[in-house]
Amino acid sequence: MERRKIVAGNWKMNMTPAKAVELIATLRPLVESSDVDVVFCVPAIDIVPALTATRGTNIEIGAQNMYFEESGAYTGEISPEMLEGAGVKYVILGHSERREYFHETDEELNKKVKKAFEHGLTPILCCGETLQQREMGITLDWIKLQIKSDLAGVPSSDVANMVIAYEPIWAIGTGKTATTEQAQEVCKAIRDCIADIYNDSTAQSVRIQYGGSVNAGNASQLFAQPDIDGGLVGGASLKPEFGKIVNCK
Ligand code: PGA
Repeated sequence: MERRKIVAGNWKMNMTPAKAVELIATLRPLVESSDVDVVFCVPAIDIVPALTATRGTNIEIGAQNMYFEESGAYTGEISPEMLEGAGVKYVILGHSERREYFHETDEELNKKVKKAFEHGLTPILCCGETLQQREMGITLDWIKLQIKSDLAGVPSSDVANMVIAYEPIWAIGTGKTATTEQAQEVCKAIRDCIADIYNDSTAQSVRIQYGGSVNAGNASQLFAQPDIDGGLVGGASLKPEFGKIVNCK
């Protein structure tokens, strides 16, 4: 089955609304592509201006997080209904920075994944191991545990349409990319895990990204792997280099 590639920029906590609009104006002509889905996951305060600035283009806007309740007394949180109402299509869930600094648990992420689908949002669910876990040889077991917990009770029809991002924590923002073999091995293990929990057609349909120091120099080799369907890009998504990553062959 031919899966359409998806390249998403994770802007993290960068860019004021005015700077976001400027960056979109710079990147817009560079990320035109009919072969790849292009997503900018921007800070919450930039979502509305980014939606306006990308209207009529091939760029979709994503959020970087959301809460699992619909509304109410949850000061500081953003609800799935708000994202849907604004016109957001994607939401990153379970990024390792959120798991580490904001103590997000798999149980919460499971609720978030389900809520995202209820509101027509496509989750980009992140998973990944620490360097210590890799050195201990428990990477694949750990990733499978994350996937199984985060997707518990999520129907196959939803999983088939979601995005999973494999991001080894030791490769994020460090300039240390996983080798193509390491990245492919884990992305294949994720696909096999989906086949075990669900079935082959769900596994063949879910899109799996690699993330962690993706740049213009390594993207084409990574994205050419049979189980890697694009990337989740941090640092390089804030630069014209992102255009090269989107259009790498
Ligand atoms: P990086 O970040 O590309 O800067 O390593 C990737 C991510 O955290 O999504």
